[in-house]
Amino acid sequence: MTFSLRSSLLAGVTAGLLVLASCSKAPAPAGGSGASTESIKVGEFASLTGKEAAFGQSSHKGVVLAIEEINTAGGVLGRKLELVSEDNQSRPGESATIVKKLISRDKVVAILGEVASSRSLEAAPICQAARIPQISPSSTNPAVTETGDYIFRVCFIDPFQGVVMAKFAKDTLKIRRVAVLTSVSSAYSVGLAKYFTERFTGDGGIIPLEQKYSEGDKDFKAQLTAIKAAGVEGIFVPGYYTEAALICKQARDLGLTIPLFGGDGWEAPQLIEIGGKAVEGCYYSTHYSPENQSPAVSTFIQKFKQRWNGEVPDAMAALSYDSAQVLADAIKRAQSTDGPKVRDALAATKDFAGVTGNTTLDAKRNATKSAVVVTIKDGVFKFVETVAP
Ligand code: PHE
Repeated sequence: MTFSLRSSLLAGVTAGLLVLASCSKAPAPAGGSGASTESIKVGEFASLTGKEAAFGQSSHKGVVLAIEEINTAGGVLGRKLELVSEDNQSRPGESATIVKKLISRDKVVAILGEVASSRSLEAAPICQAARIPQISPSSTNPAVTETGDYIFRVCFIDPFQGVVMAKFAKDTLKIRRVAVLTSVSSAYSVGLAKYFTERFTGDGGIIPLEQKYSEGDKDFKAQLTAIKAAGVEGIFVPGYYTEAALICKQARDLGLTIPLFGGDGWEAPQLIEIGGKAVEGCYYSTHYSPENQSPAVSTFIQKFKQRWNGEVPDAMAALSYDSAQVLADAIKRAQSTDGPKVRDALAATKDFAGVTGNTTLDAKRNATKSAVVVTIKDGVFKFVETVAP
């Protein structure tokens, strides 16, 4: 049986309900195609449940906050935005089905999502063929936006993130021999492993071995035993928090005390919940830190905490908030909700000030932003450094 967010909305377990409920009455139209008072439907697909539920829950909260704010300020083109959310349960194959539904049944004007590159890649050809713009908040694999000219993202891409962590290993950790442990069933992991390796070895580093696993694996002892035998000074794990936390635990169980480090996929409170002491002194790169003192970030944190029960927003929440704001801005500039017109306006996005910095969408529909490196100390995430593009 397919579990969609609709059923959970009925059960009242997500706050998406509030967004839908706030869309009944809209003020007079302010132009645009088919000048209408109806709400403008925006689709969102996310891993609200399942393996990477932390990603979907967090990005959903960022999107909901943005849409509520936009509506409180009068909406877009004099119309309210109506968010239609669907859950892919973190399962391969599900994103294609729900994105088709959002487009053909719900007639959404654009799609927000996904966090994970493999799931964004499933939706992208569908959005491209339907000429419905898709904005991924945080999928960093280059192939996502290469799918076509309707596919955008508001974050940096992995060729940059790979360089950030290769330089971090060499210059900050000062290590030369590193093992890589890659998830072969994740486009994100395979890409980030490659970009890291290219730069690290290009700079004179040595990668004596790359070990592999698949999404959902729970036992990494064989790979870690091989890594231990290779006598490396660090392990690069370009995967998601679900496996990364277990990998750190099992590495410590095997007596490996060397640093493990990864990319943005590590970001979730569950990394520490599952990893406990084993993730202490590990590092990862990501898009944003709540320790950033800028007014934009502190205002966002304040609003997010107020809306979501004191929760501190992470990178997925911040980028997703920005993705919804970038879309609303494009619809305003397009003065239309037509796919091709919104696409053109999105492509022209320049210096849009958001929580994760300024978004300028380049000719390849990617953003260029700084990365931050984070560590885990005394059971909490700690900002280490910002790396400019
Ligand atoms: N960049 C990851 C991917 O492309 C997703 C991710 C982004 C995860 C930000 C956590 C934080 O799959």
